Amino acid sequence: MATHDTAHSLDAAPFDVGACPSPAYVVDDALLRRNLELLGRVQAESGAKILLALKGFAMWNTFPLVSQYLVGTTASGQDEARLGAETFGGEVHVYSPAFTAPEMDVVLRYADHLSFNSPSQWRHFRETVRAAPRRVSCGLRVNPEHSTGEVALYDPCAPGSRLGTRAIDLSPGDVEGLEGLHFHALCEQNSDALEATLAAFETRFGQYLAGMRWVNFGGGHHITRADYDIERLVRVIRDFKARYPHLEVYLEPGEAIALNTGYLVCSVLDIVDNDGPIAILDTSATAHMPDVLEMPYRPEIIGGAKPGEKTHTYRLGGTTCLAGDVIGDYAFDRPLEIGDRLVFTDMAHYTMVKTTTFNGIRLPAICRIDETSREVRTVKTFGYVDYMQRLS
Ligand SMILES: Cc1ncc(COP(=O)(O)O)c(C=O)c1O
Repeated sequence: MATHDTAHSLDAAPFDVGACPSPAYVVDDALLRRNLELLGRVQAESGAKILLALKGFAMWNTFPLVSQYLVGTTASGQDEARLGAETFGGEVHVYSPAFTAPEMDVVLRYADHLSFNSPSQWRHFRETVRAAPRRVSCGLRVNPEHSTGEVALYDPCAPGSRLGTRAIDLSPGDVEGLEGLHFHALCEQNSDALEATLAAFETRFGQYLAGMRWVNFGGGHHITRADYDIERLVRVIRDFKARYPHLEVYLEPGEAIALNTGYLVCSVLDIVDNDGPIAILDTSATAHMPDVLEMPYRPEIIGGAKPGEKTHTYRLGGTTCLAGDVIGDYAFDRPLEIGDRLVFTDMAHYTMVKTTTFNGIRLPAICRIDETSREVRTVKTFGYVDYMQRLS
């Protein structure tokens, strides 16, 4: 926390917190490479290709590093597709619950693979795709209707889901001209959930696989988490490929690429009291780490503990007007002081891609820590113009 001018988490090497602007997202290249090495190993051992899901992590300054390991990117629409093509290279895959005609014109400039959400979208765009100057391999997102997660907000297989076509709504004529099937049903899950979901997928959609060229197992694979069962993942993919040797297998995680690779460095601006001390930070749960409220979850702070586990407990709140812009209650070894720095861990994924400028709060700067020198480099800062230009 705060009192240190260097910080490190897990088994990461320390870095100079004082060298970061505040607030700032700070990604450690050494930790990123460690994740990528593991993902590279999964590709080599399983034969699957791994894409980076840009919706989770799109800090393109790091892409010269990330693209050394992964085969390409997966996009949710035209702008992510273009970003992937222009800053990452490799394969560009695109899926959206629905495309507009103008968006499709842009997508077709960049996409190598394009997954539709429904047979009706495929029928709608089939001729446009055929007339496109580049060859695009089209597929359909299906719904394996097998829920393995506990939170409905993150379960594409929940009853009433709009994401993916159910087997009951599909007939062989619908897949004519398609070359792939795509399913995404996991969220922060282990390979046992993939194994069960894949079995459900094969039961429901196995009849369509003979005529396909690829299957995309989606994201949500928490591959770089310490307790993830890599051996099972490799076995599940290899067994699948043995059953369907003609199929290319893709995984498209976002979170697993950047898991535990970055920090949010911030500062204490004021300390007020309301039945206990409250530290107001120069960051915000709702604007800079929205998953804290949306998931919801409690991020870790270096040097911080649960209330009562250390002597001095504070509620940490943000600078927006939202009454619930509270990150949580944290205990420290010594009292916080105005100007102290705090370092939230695991802040690389689903943060930068989800920020807002609500209340005109400035976006955190973006920094990288060099793998060997440990030097902190600021690669982007934001100011008034970034806020103003979004509004008219
Ligand atoms: C279709 C699709 N693919 C990939 C992902 C990436 O998932 P994750 O970041 O959990 O690995 C998502 C996340 O929502 C998704 O919807």
